[in-house]
Amino acid sequence: MTIRSDILLDIHHMMDEGEIERKRVQSLLPQVQEVFHGLTDLRRLGQLPFRDLPYQNVQRILEKAEGLRQEFETILLIGIGGSSLGPQLLSQGLALPDRGGPEIVICDTLDPAAWKGIADRLDFKKTLVLVVSKSGKTIETLAALLYFRQCLEERGKKDCKKQIFVITDPHEGPLRKLVSENGFDHLEIPPGVGGRYSVLTPVGLFPAACQGIDVRELLAGAQRMDERCQHKDPWFNPALMSAVLHYLADTEKGKKIRVTFTYGERLKAYGPWFSQLWAESLGKRFSLSGKEIFAGMTPISALGPQDQHSQLQLYLEGPNDKVVTFVAAETERQDLKIPTDPLHISEAAELQGKTVHELLQLECRATALALREAGRLNQTISLREIHPYNLGQLIYFAEVETVFAGELYDVNPFDQPGVEIIKKNIRRLLRGQLEIKKNRSWLI
Ligand code: PA5
Repeated sequence: MTIRSDILLDIHHMMDEGEIERKRVQSLLPQVQEVFHGLTDLRRLGQLPFRDLPYQNVQRILEKAEGLRQEFETILLIGIGGSSLGPQLLSQGLALPDRGGPEIVICDTLDPAAWKGIADRLDFKKTLVLVVSKSGKTIETLAALLYFRQCLEERGKKDCKKQIFVITDPHEGPLRKLVSENGFDHLEIPPGVGGRYSVLTPVGLFPAACQGIDVRELLAGAQRMDERCQHKDPWFNPALMSAVLHYLADTEKGKKIRVTFTYGERLKAYGPWFSQLWAESLGKRFSLSGKEIFAGMTPISALGPQDQHSQLQLYLEGPNDKVVTFVAAETERQDLKIPTDPLHISEAAELQGKTVHELLQLECRATALALREAGRLNQTISLREIHPYNLGQLIYFAEVETVFAGELYDVNPFDQPGVEIIKKNIRRLLRGQLEIKKNRSWLI
């Protein structure tokens, strides 16, 4: 049964009982309207292709996934950044054990022990190697491709070329060339959609479909959020409102850190996915007009309840420089009842009749309240349950919010010049074109 419900954004601990005044939001409205209309025009001109992803035709993705779903036991996804964090988010949230289909293993590391661990445990006759890279040039991904291609050659099927599947740019890059030369099966990432905005392209949708996740529901959720995000008034547009509140919190209230506090293991991958989106999109030295501004709030991920016993102390009593977003599901289909207590542990008496998820939910609320009482800004995003429709809304909400915030900061949320410097330096070091000077100030 499909449960289609809107995700909710509760901003009471930001505004009514928080630090940001309604009248300040009202006075920013002319600028907000300008931002909103500017982005609406860009979309109309086809310059915001990620905004139209909810309406794509997924037939080809589904057909390809269906065949491979029957054929393989494991999908080994090789990719990094947006090319792995999106698939991880969908898999962790939605690929429940009872769905059947292949298990997904993600290799986004340069740890040789991790590579060897994966190689040792996989049956390469039943493994599809899925290489994901928009540019097709990312060195970590290419290194892993070489290693696992060799595993396939040594231990895979006779024609192991059929065990490599590529997702990359439709026109450019070395992976595109490899596809043409070797006839690897493949899907394209639409032009103009960068890594961190690519979860609703084949990057996220194809592995999700292979795992039996309902990708049409995911897109239906994103469509629903798109409707909500087309309202020019932030009081009716959750992504616009959240962008405005965070922009004001940073630039006027000194909140330089944005914490994403997810509750439960199924939402755990949302934190790192969102951190990449927010950090790479908004952390910019220059404004659009070339002025040096050093923009951006530092994102941090926290997980409940574990981080209540770890980072929370700092959030409650340390520097008041953070805004926390709680992300939690109200119900969990696979909930468990906490058993009655034959041991009569007095401290456990309140648990009688409760379920594990009820306790988790209650802990999330208690934490939000404690932060509020300590005068710390926080907001809560609630999903009725973790379901493709709800997660589609959440993903689209976060992407649109980030782009609205980019406009408010006056930065380009789609480039990543800093990341490109690192990529170039790695290549220069590999080619011996860059020397690292010996540092005499090392103590050990
Ligand atoms: O968001 C981005 O563009 C980056 O973080 C990329 O996802 C990351 O660098 C990997 O790039 P690619 O997909 O080209 O391998």
